[in-house]
Amino acid sequence: MDKIVSLCRRRGFVFPSSEIYGGIGSTYDYGHYGVLAKNNIRELWFQTMVQERDDMVALDSAIILNPRVWEASGHVGGFTDPLVDCRTCKLRFRADKLDEAQCGRRPSKHPGEYSECDLTEARQFNLMFQTHVGALEGESSLAYLRPETAQGIFVNFKNVLQIARRKPPFGIAQVGKSFRNEITPGNFLFRMREFEQMEMEYFVLPQDAEQWFQYWVEERFRWYLNLGLRESHLRKREHEASERSHYSSATTDLEYLYPIGWSELEGIANRGDYDLTQHTQHSGAKLEFVGEDGERYTPHVIEPAVSIDRILLAFLVDAYDEEIVAERQRTVLRLHPRVAPVKAAILPLIAKNADMVDRARSLYQELRKGQIVEYDDGGAIGRRYRRQDEIGTPFAFTIDDQTLEDDTVTVRDRDSLAQERLPLAGVRNWLGDALERPWQTPKPS
Ligand code: GAP
Repeated sequence: MDKIVSLCRRRGFVFPSSEIYGGIGSTYDYGHYGVLAKNNIRELWFQTMVQERDDMVALDSAIILNPRVWEASGHVGGFTDPLVDCRTCKLRFRADKLDEAQCGRRPSKHPGEYSECDLTEARQFNLMFQTHVGALEGESSLAYLRPETAQGIFVNFKNVLQIARRKPPFGIAQVGKSFRNEITPGNFLFRMREFEQMEMEYFVLPQDAEQWFQYWVEERFRWYLNLGLRESHLRKREHEASERSHYSSATTDLEYLYPIGWSELEGIANRGDYDLTQHTQHSGAKLEFVGEDGERYTPHVIEPAVSIDRILLAFLVDAYDEEIVAERQRTVLRLHPRVAPVKAAILPLIAKNADMVDRARSLYQELRKGQIVEYDDGGAIGRRYRRQDEIGTPFAFTIDDQTLEDDTVTVRDRDSLAQERLPLAGVRNWLGDALERPWQTPKPS
């Protein structure tokens, strides 16, 4: 994990938030390459979940909802973690995760293991951030930053049903920030207090819920494999009844083997009719499906939910590689080309050669209309390749002496380091095709 954190920092993927003021716990800012990689992940998710399907619509609901939403959903009463304080070191820990927590003393042990540790009884701590709406602060202005995007979907169920004229099975997909006042955040992008969720609520006939649940577990598992995650590092894990959230009758996590061990990357839950029933009872609006023949029922809901941040961390961990090439160490991010922040680098071999620079610049101008590409003429060609390897750029086009003679360029492959020559005029199409090709990591599993 340290190597990933350091690379992200060094190359401007991720910075600790408000760093010049000492940062703020487990909140991160994304720099240029981080933004580009996140955009790619969001677009790939949206493409698979919405664009390429007939049964899906998109939504972008507000972050701050009527607080009664969170009473109905059970979050005000139940979105809690058990918390213990240590009266000696003044740190706070999740009572159910003491064996994973580090005590404040040195050498570090688990809380409670030193004789001086003085832990309080566990009490329930609500993870929702509170805020106030309007100029007056008081009970009546209390509101929450959403801890999941899902509730914005449920409260819009009727709108979508009527205006988008949908009938089950259909889904509503949404991407947006969620906020949780995690007690023990940490492990870089894995557990943050502000993160970007991608959630989809799939409304089905009650008797079909189990079948759709299995369907979505398989769909989502395959999505990661198609984007090149090593199968040896991805697994499905069914939740025990005692682990499940209050709304869930079945949950399967897709777990990735992060440096911290197997941990939840994405959760797929069968939420039954819990949410629509709760909101019907609390709001008085009937959130049910009524067919043309008069049949009426409350659909059941299957939910795949994940954050872009956890996906990015999994992709970075899976991609990170070091190898010796020509007696020098090279650090390379073997990212799927569609996830990679920059798709190609355009490099004039000799930066002082005006003809090479002209050709390279005009190729750059042409390619940037369709893809994120970079032009780089700073330093020796080997160093420029290394810089691109470190941010995971899959292809580099080099303009050299031969280009000036026959209008061809060299394309270098990040993974195999193989080089071939292409006609300059065909580079744009070649790159488009290369990005569409299936890709598998050369990293051993
Ligand atoms: N709507 C259901 C829901 O929110 P969850 O298991 O609490 O379920 C879903 O969260 C996903 O959101 C997780 O699988 C994970 O990918 C992501 N996630 C949850 N808490 C997170 C955090 N503190 N930091 C980053 N990602 C988080």
